[in-house]
Amino acid sequence: MNKFFLNLGVQPLANNFLKKFSSKQPTYNLKLYFNTKTKMVSISKRIPSSVMFNSKYPYRSSMSITMRTSFKKLSDEIKKRFNPTLLLEIGSNDGALIKNFDKKKVIGVEPCKNLAKITKKMNYKTFDKYWDFQLATKIKREFNSVNVVYSANTLTHISNLDNVFKSINHILSKNGVLIIEDPSLLECLKKNSYDQFYNEHIYLFSAISVKNLLSKFDLEIFDIKNLKTHGGSLRYYIKRKKNKKIKISKNVKKHINKELKAGLGNFLTYKTFSNKVIKSKQRILKILNNIKKRNKKILGYGATAKAVTVLNYCDINNDLIKNFTDTTPEKINKFLPGKNIKIMKYKKNILNDYDYAFLGAWNFKDEIFKKEISFIKRGGKFITHVPFPKIIKI
Ligand code: TMP
Repeated sequence: MNKFFLNLGVQPLANNFLKKFSSKQPTYNLKLYFNTKTKMVSISKRIPSSVMFNSKYPYRSSMSITMRTSFKKLSDEIKKRFNPTLLLEIGSNDGALIKNFDKKKVIGVEPCKNLAKITKKMNYKTFDKYWDFQLATKIKREFNSVNVVYSANTLTHISNLDNVFKSINHILSKNGVLIIEDPSLLECLKKNSYDQFYNEHIYLFSAISVKNLLSKFDLEIFDIKNLKTHGGSLRYYIKRKKNKKIKISKNVKKHINKELKAGLGNFLTYKTFSNKVIKSKQRILKILNNIKKRNKKILGYGATAKAVTVLNYCDINNDLIKNFTDTTPEKINKFLPGKNIKIMKYKKNILNDYDYAFLGAWNFKDEIFKKEISFIKRGGKFITHVPFPKIIKI
């Protein structure tokens, strides 16, 4: 049974960056639910994939050093540990992972045509289609089976998970390995990062819910890794239950026990989280309003989908944060979804004109602090809402 625990209010589509601000853009009510049987946490609203993932999708994986480094490290590990003759990536974005592989040994699947075009141009085999059984059948016919299927920050975006795993099952070789990584529910609860939720993040996985989901497809987790990416993610290494050649690491049980101990299987945990989120809203508004009263200026740093959730939930407007900045070309000179706040092109020393920077991309804070050392040296301060709203002391 799905039980409601948090209402994050009326929200715009998180990646609907408009050239002209409009108060009439499409909205939905962002409500969070916990399934008492499957232990899955999800949002209630389902926006059609074709509305969210189209030829104008603005998110690019290669935009940060953190992500590029993470993908490079992983591709070295995959080659060493699994040595795949063929790897398929679901949601290959702009090729941040696949470009670390030999062109003959990888296939990308990316429904956003603007992104698929990038890897096609580099001569990487890319299907600009949604991942489903029809596509899996087509790929199987052409390439037979695949030894490694990889997917990062994609499966939680797809409503019909049964279809996703049925299609993976169809294409994965007998001894093949599936690797998925997505933001961790445990980390989200620990960090009170409610901004992990927006229309594209339909699910927030835990090892407990992934285990339950996989068992329907005779798949099981054999290893788990904690990652720092996207504010704390989990990488799940998955195999067929029948494959006894691969041993199950102790990490799996250890992690599941950690989640159980943190109460991820109990509804009450989510009610506690919900109360903390309400307090977080009050506190961030207090901090921003105090800065406004002192006539100091704040720039939003990183126009992330996460920032869209925060600004719209807390109703933070351009009297508090006048502008945002971002490095992604597709977001420049557009408006932060739902808000009359323009996103300016990032340039070195952009923070010279500001006293404070609100971390929209708090998950990249180390990378950002390194980049903005001169701002910090002249007394500039960063503001974050994670794990609780504060002005950061560096
Ligand atoms: P994400 O948190 O959804 O991965 O998005 C990160 C966003 O932050 C992306 O739009 C790029 C932006 N960004 C900057 O503008 N400057 C930076 O230094 C970093 C690391 C990210």
